[in-house]
Amino acid sequence: MNNFVFQNPTKLIFGKGMLDQLVSELAHVGNRILLVYGGGSIKRNGLYDKVVAILNDANKDIFELSGVEPNPRVTTARKGIDICKQEQIDFILAVGGGSTIDCVKAIAAGANSEHDIWDIVTKKHHASSALPFGTVLTLAATGSEMNAGSVITNWETNEKHGWGSPYTYPKFSILDPVHTYNVPKDQTIYGIVDIMSHALEHYFHHETTTHLQDRMVEGILKTVIETAPQLLDELDSYQHRATILYSGTMALNGMVSMGYQGDWATHNLEHAVSAVHDIPHGGGLAILFPNWMQHVLDENVERFKKFAQRVFDIEQGELSDREVAIKGITALREFWNTIGAPNRLADYNINENTIEEMADKTVTANKNFGNFKKLTYDDSVAIYQASL
Ligand code: NZQ
Ligand code: ZN
Repeated sequence: MNNFVFQNPTKLIFGKGMLDQLVSELAHVGNRILLVYGGGSIKRNGLYDKVVAILNDANKDIFELSGVEPNPRVTTARKGIDICKQEQIDFILAVGGGSTIDCVKAIAAGANSEHDIWDIVTKKHHASSALPFGTVLTLAATGSEMNAGSVITNWETNEKHGWGSPYTYPKFSILDPVHTYNVPKDQTIYGIVDIMSHALEHYFHHETTTHLQDRMVEGILKTVIETAPQLLDELDSYQHRATILYSGTMALNGMVSMGYQGDWATHNLEHAVSAVHDIPHGGGLAILFPNWMQHVLDENVERFKKFAQRVFDIEQGELSDREVAIKGITALREFWNTIGAPNRLADYNINENTIEEMADKTVTANKNFGNFKKLTYDDSVAIYQASL
């Protein structure tokens, strides 16, 4: 296990009715609040009215930015930054899914910087501070509610980049599973795939002494595999929504990934697909992950065998280690098929015409990417081709 320092300052507020805690959380922030949300789901399910009532009761001056897109755009972040600067906003409140939260992180950092936010996203400049912000999460998926990461798309250049800073952790995040009841079935599936993919990105490394970390990651995967089909049968089950919501936070808040470096190539491959085709992140991951696995399997068959045996209970019997490993990859693909996740790029009408463009994007920031195996442009092309 490598040395590590761990600090996660986000206060996690979890459970039914916990929106009430917003009152005390807002007591110590300034008066001018920017409320940021997406395309309107919070208006349809009544959450918007509840949040605004709490802000009004607290005598806050409310400013609003609505319409944050799935795969949030840098142009939308810039609008929020302008509001913060012009209106001298004290605190930002994100109400929504990962896209809204990621956009708020960009707004928070951009509001305190003289640089354009795209230069911070692309790491030409670094954030040196950020406006404080909190979140009310409505969709289990990204873990953005308890991490410092943010993923922003530039639609002019078809680029989608992840970035983060020590200043972009939410001050608090309120997670009430009831707020996720209205997430449609397809978005629920994408969220499940994203959560599992974060666990998988952690799992594939070459360290051999990460015993507790491995068990924690396997625990997330097994829990999601057990719960997902039950949740999809009963979308308003409090217990199942709660289990998936908590799994999503734990999969990417740093708790299970101390002391080693995960892979993250598949996320890079997916971000390039979304940058060109604007598809849902979880949908892209479901297509790409099994093909990445197949592509890198021989780097460490032992690790894939462990995954197969511990996560999908594959028995060795007469099988070779490699055959066990392959059965694990097949089991993952079949699981995602059974819950209704997409499995081919063709499901999004993506064909070979854009493979080179997407592969180019995977190596723009970094000629070699991924940690389990360093990938090149040619590897990207091969994985996209296998995913067609
Ligand atoms: O915009 P609204 O109207 O709110 O609708 C959203 C959106 O259409 C809807 N939705 C959210 N909560 C709902 C709901 N609909 C009904 N009821 C509710 N309670 O769901 C749709 C998708 O929302 P979005 O926020 O885009 O989904 P998600 O949370 O999956 O976020 C995806 C974005 O996060 C990035 C992805 O790349 C993508 O851009 N990621 C961020 C990460 C991070 N910050 O750590 C890590 C991830 O790996 C990921 O890359
Ligand atoms: Zn993800």
